[in-house]
Amino acid sequence: MAKEKTLDDLFHDTLKDIYYAERKILKALPKMARGAQAPELKAAFEKHRDQTETHVERLQQVFELIGKRAQGKTCEAIEGILAEGEEILDEFKGTAALDAGLISAAQAVEHYEIARYGTLKTWAQTMGLKDAVKLLDATLKEEAVTDGDLTKLATANSNRKAMKAA
Ligand SMILES: [Fe+2]
Ligand SMILES: [Fe+2]
Repeated sequence: MAKEKTLDDLFHDTLKDIYYAERKILKALPKMARGAQAPELKAAFEKHRDQTETHVERLQQVFELIGKRAQGKTCEAIEGILAEGEEILDEFKGTAALDAGLISAAQAVEHYEIARYGTLKTWAQTMGLKDAVKLLDATLKEEAVTDGDLTKLATANSNRKAMKAA
């Protein structure tokens, strides 16, 4: 019979998944910032790159709290989401629709993160890991604010701009 696994194992596994994802996102955001046309969107990506550095650090603290080495595990989901973002960068380069496309790609990333952090926070609560809950919640809030900021940028400008030719 397979070795018994518990919520501890799920938590550790999912932590490795999001740790891998955050480090990939950290590398992708500067490319998205360079690609963005609107200065406000560029600034939003740069700001979130800095926040993402903190997200990586917070995850390292959570690993420490559970007495494990900070280690990533390949996350195919984030690879796919980021590959779609690269595609938009390539295929919509120089067009009026680029920023709206980049926002859509970035929001897919944020929603993935929100799903992961929401689950991890809930599990940490169940496991009585109070300090981990605080760290995970701090990041979850920043991901949600970023998602909201991206919606504002899309509806204030980028979507309408994308309706017309560059
Ligand atoms: Fe993040
Ligand atoms: Fe994020």
